[in-house]
Amino acid sequence: MQTNAASPSLWTATAQVPSNPPLPGDTQADVCVVGGGIAGLTAAYLLLKEGRSVLLIDALDVGAGETGRTTAHFFPPDERYFEIARRFGDDKAAMLRDSYEQATKLVESIVQSEQITCDFRRLDGYLVPAGPGGAAVIDKEHAAALKLGVEVTRLLRVPGLEWDTGPALCFHRQAQFHPVKYLAGLLRAVKRLGGQVHGGTRARELSSSAEGITVTTERGNIRARAVVVATNTPFNTRVVMHTKVTGYHSYVVGLKVPRGALPPFLLWDTGDPYHYVRLDAQEGEQSHDILVVGGQDHKVGQDGTPQHRYDELEAWTRQRFPQAHEVAYRWSGEVMEPADGVAYLGRAPGEKGEVYLITGDSGNGMTHCTAGAMLVADLIQNRTNPWVPLYNPARKPVRSLGEYMLEQANTLAQYADWLQGGEVSAPDRIPPGEGALIRDGLKLMAVHRADDGKLTFLSAACPHMGCAVHWNSGEKSWDCPCHGSRFDIEGNVLHGPSAAPLARMESK
Ligand SMILES: Cc1cc2nc3c(=O)[nH]c(=O)nc-3n(C[C@H](O)[C@H](O)[C@H](O)COP(=O)(O)OP(=O)(O)OC[C@H]3O[C@@H](n4cnc5c(N)ncnc54)[C@H](O)[C@@H]3O)c2cc1C
Ligand code: FES
Repeated sequence: MQTNAASPSLWTATAQVPSNPPLPGDTQADVCVVGGGIAGLTAAYLLLKEGRSVLLIDALDVGAGETGRTTAHFFPPDERYFEIARRFGDDKAAMLRDSYEQATKLVESIVQSEQITCDFRRLDGYLVPAGPGGAAVIDKEHAAALKLGVEVTRLLRVPGLEWDTGPALCFHRQAQFHPVKYLAGLLRAVKRLGGQVHGGTRARELSSSAEGITVTTERGNIRARAVVVATNTPFNTRVVMHTKVTGYHSYVVGLKVPRGALPPFLLWDTGDPYHYVRLDAQEGEQSHDILVVGGQDHKVGQDGTPQHRYDELEAWTRQRFPQAHEVAYRWSGEVMEPADGVAYLGRAPGEKGEVYLITGDSGNGMTHCTAGAMLVADLIQNRTNPWVPLYNPARKPVRSLGEYMLEQANTLAQYADWLQGGEVSAPDRIPPGEGALIRDGLKLMAVHRADDGKLTFLSAACPHMGCAVHWNSGEKSWDCPCHGSRFDIEGNVLHGPSAAPLARMESK
């Protein structure tokens, strides 16, 4: 099972992570890691290397989350160095640069030492202008990057492409890999080091006592000294973190290009939302590589018919890359955007005991999650970590109050759904394979009609904080427009923060 089963990614279609059995019952460990994506597996690996006993659980299974749906660019912050320096100051912007460099180096060294065949490579990444004001952004970012000592060169255009990109900023020695092959290698290493890994085991809540922390799961309780919540968005903090992270849906197309027609490169533009591009060289005797292009982001649950977004990405690609042949892949995933552009990594606010978070990665999850695992491993081992002041999850969003309030106002506006009628008056108005909201007195029902006509009635109330979920006809899921929870047609959780399913209802 995956968070977006309707749209398998290039990575999940070309590699597999071995499955892991559910937790057999109550147990204990030094550290319980919740979540088996890049954040959780890296944390587990680092702690096992330090001699800790580690137990990792995943609600679905290792690799079933957003790490299987990324495009895996290792590149500078989405939010730009000049913006981070303006908000946080030069010292913290330098910490961020340092953490990105160290995280990329750690991945490179794990790939080498664990002999993980995952197509990891260092390569140049280019920031290019999009629309009016784009060239000015390039200039500002160039100045900020030079000031911070980032290895960067300003060029007249990206070399080796037919597309005249205009002035480009080349960030040297960035990286890319095949994320699912990397997770498979990391899982193998975690198990070799004695880590216990269980899929199909959702954590429902945490509680702390003098003896440590108890993770309550649907399969038994786990007692641990420390818990790392690496679930992409935390399931344990009901409010405090969810005013600071927002779930966005992002879309990706993969088009065949003749082998060798394009050089390996990373590229992203200054648009908002921005486009991001990379090449994936296919293995074996294939005559083509895959050009991977992402973008078209919107807040989760706020576009019920997003299929047009793939068409727009494809048109954008064909205009710039005439080498592109047919579309081989289309997929989407969820990105957790932090309120101020910097991830939340470290001690969980509001929790008693040793509970740590890795969340709010933005489009920089490869580096943020790896840096988060390094930081959390240091804290669990009672070492200081130089990045703590930057990434502290308890910080107030370092952003203009206006921008922050705008995001909150958008969330609050979603509760107005409860005052409105349903989207259709009766189940027979729902086409086969689709879903819609139907009002039943004071209640709103989320109703799905299967291709064979079978109806499933669920409460539309998101168990996290009660917003009404919306149908997503692209992914065939119920998506919450408030904080990004997503559910399948049976109501099972696909993505948090909700840790509980949508409630079943009787038909009208
Ligand atoms: C389309 C797209 C493009 C992206 N491009 C880039 C990019 O180019 N570069 C980059 O750096 N980042 C990119 N990102 C972001 C990056 O992919 C993510 O930030 C990163 O993969 C998150 O990793 P994670 O380990 O935190 O979460 P995940 O990989 O989602 O893993 C979390 C795991 O936790 C499990 N889980 C959830 N709740 C529970 C629970 N209650 N109990 C137990 N288990 C639970 C899930 O099943 C899941 O397996 C992109 C993301 C998307 C969607
Ligand atoms: S995700 Fe918060 S109310 Fe649904």
